[in-house]
Amino acid sequence: MLIKKITLKNFRNHTFLSFDFSSKLNALSGPNAIGKTNVAEAIYYLSLGHSFRTDEDVSLIQKNTDRSEIEAIITEGDLTRKIKVIITKLGRMITINGKNIAKLSDLAKCVNVILFQPKDVSLFSGPPKDRRSFIDISISKKSMVYLDYLSRYDKVLRERNNLLKSEKINRTLLDVTTELMVKLSGSIISYRQMYVQDINNILNKITRSLTGEKGTFELKYYSFVPYDANFSENAKNAFEKAEENDIKRKMTSIGIHREDLSMSYNGRDIATFGSQGENRIAALALKLSPYFLIEDKDKKPIVVLDDVMSELDQTHQEKLIKFLRKFNQVFITGTKLDIPDCNHLLIKPETKEVV
Ligand SMILES: Nc1ncnc2c1ncn2[C@@H]1O[C@H](COP(=O)(O)OP(=O)(O)OP(=O)(O)O)[C@@H](O)[C@H]1O
Ligand SMILES: [Mg+2]
Repeated sequence: MLIKKITLKNFRNHTFLSFDFSSKLNALSGPNAIGKTNVAEAIYYLSLGHSFRTDEDVSLIQKNTDRSEIEAIITEGDLTRKIKVIITKLGRMITINGKNIAKLSDLAKCVNVILFQPKDVSLFSGPPKDRRSFIDISISKKSMVYLDYLSRYDKVLRERNNLLKSEKINRTLLDVTTELMVKLSGSIISYRQMYVQDINNILNKITRSLTGEKGTFELKYYSFVPYDANFSENAKNAFEKAEENDIKRKMTSIGIHREDLSMSYNGRDIATFGSQGENRIAALALKLSPYFLIEDKDKKPIVVLDDVMSELDQTHQEKLIKFLRKFNQVFITGTKLDIPDCNHLLIKPETKEVV
């Protein structure tokens, strides 16, 4: 898919800003604090109905105003959709072609954005939640069935945790929720396992394009119980074993919501042994990999790279730009972007309007 145009009103520091994008490379450069990441944030918001910088939509509303808007024209093959987000202090409204969306997955189906942000360099050394969220979002964008498993699992998990918090625990109900969790876990793990395998099949092609070097990167996935013929029995036993502890702590301590992923480079864990540069390349390659796992050309994600170039040397910058030309559409920000054959966007400092 492609983003043809975006218009922001009272969004963060932008009073009014409108950009026409080209397919291929779009570069937004400018000094610190001019609002480049804010534009990346608005594009990303269109994909998940959520910012990557805050959980509170009101922070997106420009200071001293009471309503923020993002409007975008998105195409998918011959289809054109107008997406509008209105955020006020009372809540937000999202429409597609003038119609309110019923659920967030309606939006997720229409806009797919892959984001790389500076803090992703710590993707492997940071909290497991970030790695789980990468895999969950990526698979969900490919499979609505997976998204459905996940939301059902979340619901059952909340129910189980509520049961664990009650004064007198209803054991029969606890068993029912545990059984449901085991069932859903099996489906989720099989998706995660397959997706990690798919990533590993392409990961080294990506890293070689980015570095020109031949080292081997491998993504590893640790399911809470191995997914084999005895999965159900083993998972049930694991929940049983954890039950007394769960009751004591009033929360579910094991399950797919606690799983993790790691990355190795030439057989060694990158979070512990990798250099900053290796971590950056591995994270960038991983973040870009879902692009190649979506077969339908019209549904390929829009790639948003916020401030990715600043830490790269000249050679790596050139390799990255060459690689980015393979994608349908890329939006890249940086303080100084000297990219040939590219749609250069600028924010005028005084008015925050496009020149
Ligand atoms: N709700 C808001 N209302 C007004 N201004 C805001 C709001 N939220 C953030 N800002 C301002 O937006 C500016 C930061 O914008 P942004 O992070 O997009 O800059 P940037 O161009 O990416 O800078 P850098 O090159 O340092 O990454 C800051 O000056 C910040 O104070
Ligand atoms: Mg920035």
